[in-house]
Amino acid sequence: MLDIGQPMGYHYLHKEPQRLLAPLPLTPSLLMAVTSPLTCPMASTANANRLAYVGKVPGARDSDSWFTPAVYVDSARDALGGIIGLDPFSSDAANEVVDAVTHLTVADDAFATPWAPCLPRNKTLKTVWMNPPYSGKLCRDAVNLFIDQYAAGTFTAGVFLVNNSTETSWFQRAMASATAVCFTNHRIAFWNADGKAQSGNTRGQAFFYFGNNLTAFRNAFTAHGTVVALQEVL
Ligand SMILES: C[S@@+](CC[C@H](N)C(=O)[O-])C[C@H]1O[C@@H](n2cnc3c(N)ncnc32)[C@H](O)[C@@H]1O
Repeated sequence: MLDIGQPMGYHYLHKEPQRLLAPLPLTPSLLMAVTSPLTCPMASTANANRLAYVGKVPGARDSDSWFTPAVYVDSARDALGGIIGLDPFSSDAANEVVDAVTHLTVADDAFATPWAPCLPRNKTLKTVWMNPPYSGKLCRDAVNLFIDQYAAGTFTAGVFLVNNSTETSWFQRAMASATAVCFTNHRIAFWNADGKAQSGNTRGQAFFYFGNNLTAFRNAFTAHGTVVALQEVL
């Protein structure tokens, strides 16, 4: 959490059916192939520390700490005028990418800490980025809190990222409340705290925009999917 001088309380192998194969005759060329050193003219230059996880990280508790890849945070920042004033659901590691002026952590508890005092005083900087924890009812509660705070005038513009859970009451409320939404044309490979991408995501995502600069949101998010205006911006 950054203190800005304001009162703040913030993987699996593809398994084919086992086939019964007759043992191969051990020819000289086969013998050569299995005993000679492995050489690969196209040896990978990838950094093993940053390769993606294919599926789950063993033992990891998934969705609460899937961080947003920088490309999407950058788009949100652009849509919000260049500054993210508050990220209410975050961690110090996640904020290395989000770079919000203020971020709240589990220890702060964004459900218990008032958001208003955490936001910059300058109206144009009263912006919120949110990628909530997804487990249990946390996502629902976070979305409802975000919408309530926007309706109360706590912040002037915001973007939140959720799964495309169109059947849920909170997603329907978001559709009825937001200025615009971007339905992604792909599944986001979220980042783990170690910076590796996770490719096991089974859902598409949606970015909801609240604010009065529809053009900025459209320009920032067209690259990620279809942008739909939901409310007339007066
Ligand atoms: C899906 S991650 C998103 C992190 C970051 N906002 C981003 O966009 O990359 C959700 C974050 O919320 C944090 N979190 C969970 N419950 C919280 C709470 N009650 N208050 C604040 N943060 C919370 C988790 O520790 C995690 O870092």
